[in-house]
Amino acid sequence: MRFQADFAAYLNAASPSEILPITTTSAGLNAIAQALPLEPGDNLCFCETEFPSNAYPWMSRAQDGIEVRQVPAVNGGLDLTTLRPYVDERTRLVAVSAVQFFSGHRADLAALGAFCRERTSCWRWMRSRLLGTCA
Ligand SMILES: Cc1ncc(COP(=O)(O)O)c(C=O)c1O
Repeated sequence: MRFQADFAAYLNAASPSEILPITTTSAGLNAIAQALPLEPGDNLCFCETEFPSNAYPWMSRAQDGIEVRQVPAVNGGLDLTTLRPYVDERTRLVAVSAVQFFSGHRADLAALGAFCRERTSCWRWMRSRLLGTCA
């Protein structure tokens, strides 16, 4: 509980209950991808060069009628200009690694986050690996 409170403060989370210790990033992404309440016809986006752990869990949601949109990489990662036409009123999630494992591309999380927040339907974007990379 102390860990959750400290980490919530560090991340500026709304509540310690938003912090859940897990074994690995891959396990966490998989759990989230399976638990998200998505409806057939919804879609989600991620970059075509995403690490497999941040791609296959989302791709598995295709069996629920979710459209999986892979965005072409620009300079080895996700770029807002390239992403824009892939996002529409049925987009529920944009998954992006803060730092791409393959290219080292560092995502502009401020710009991507602002874009997603502008769109009420696009209610989550996933951040991954930034803490691990900075540690
Ligand atoms: C997006 C992403 N997820 C998961 C991993 C693997 O992390 P873990 O071993 O914690 O599952 C990596 C490794 O680079 C990654 O880039």
